[in-house]
Amino acid sequence: MFPESVRIVEVGPRDGLQNETGIVPLAAKVALIDALSEAGLSTVEVGSFVSPKWVPQMADTDEVLHRIIRHQGTRYPVLVPNLKGLDAALAATRVEEIAVFAAASEAFSRKNINCSIAESLDRLAEVTEKAKDHGLAVRGYVSCVLGCPYEGEIPVARVAEVAEALDAMGCYEVSLGDTIGVGTPLKARAMVEAVAERVPVERLAAHFHDTYGMALANLLEVLRMGVSVVDSSVSGLGGCPYAKGATGNLATEDAVYMLNGMGIHTGVDLDKVCAAGAVISATLGREPTSRVARALGGKGG
Ligand code: HMG
Ligand code: MG
Repeated sequence: MFPESVRIVEVGPRDGLQNETGIVPLAAKVALIDALSEAGLSTVEVGSFVSPKWVPQMADTDEVLHRIIRHQGTRYPVLVPNLKGLDAALAATRVEEIAVFAAASEAFSRKNINCSIAESLDRLAEVTEKAKDHGLAVRGYVSCVLGCPYEGEIPVARVAEVAEALDAMGCYEVSLGDTIGVGTPLKARAMVEAVAERVPVERLAAHFHDTYGMALANLLEVLRMGVSVVDSSVSGLGGCPYAKGATGNLATEDAVYMLNGMGIHTGVDLDKVCAAGAVISATLGREPTSRVARALGGKGG
């Protein structure tokens, strides 16, 4: 009924740190990514090549890529919105994978990337084609799959259309983003059912922000449906700069604790993730958001 193993995609260094009001020092970013690799995360999203005027927090992504210690078998993708971002990624140190992002909401698309959904898909088709020509793997994101901060309810058919478009252009996986964390389990199920009619469930990932505390419940529901890739953020860092009030992703510590308890293999060392979360939280001057990290009190599991 549940998958035997789950691949966790750690998005904290990108989705988390992009939303900080201050700029996190380069050394702290590198130390965080190194600690996450050391904790056994097989994918760690490093940063993004977006406009530094829009998201100044990610402006040093090329330097981060240069300094991190890469682990054998670990993937270090970066987010890319357009050809300019792709060219920057190709010029950077050892980028082997990018992630492109579109939205299921017109209003959010305009706020986040300054164009319509259709324009963004045309743009991303070019990006994906060129990236693949250069031998890069491409992952796709759909935002606002369970609701939009500007439009409210989003029809599941529109989520399915955008996911299908990303799949058709050659994304090896499509990550379904509840950007503002408003989803509840049965809505998450209905959304994944609609998408899975167009994109096989084996190529779908769950990306649930935890604004309303629903992310674990939603995850459990979609695991039952065969989703086996989960995006999460150490210490629950994050949000989206263009989705006001949205908090971080499902915390990696919480995901790993639940999956461990269910006997589902992740390859992630809970003690080490908690330690990485404690360090970055101290750097940011706050307690980890993760309930599990707090319960374990920095002692690990
Ligand atoms: P624009 O202003 O429409 O772009 O922004 P433009 O093409 O008109 O160019 C304007 C200026 O930006 C020019 O510079 C370009 O060179 C520069 P100027 O001539 O004025 O000096 N520019 C760039 N610079 C660096 N890198 C680039 C780049 N592109 C243009 N790649 C753009 C359009 C897409 C660039 C902008 O809207 C942008 O950067 N948006 C990114 C927003 C973002 O990063 N959001 C957060 C990530 S998405 C997310 O968090 C959701 C996710 O987690 C899933 C979920 O939770 O739902 C993935
Ligand atoms: Mg996100």
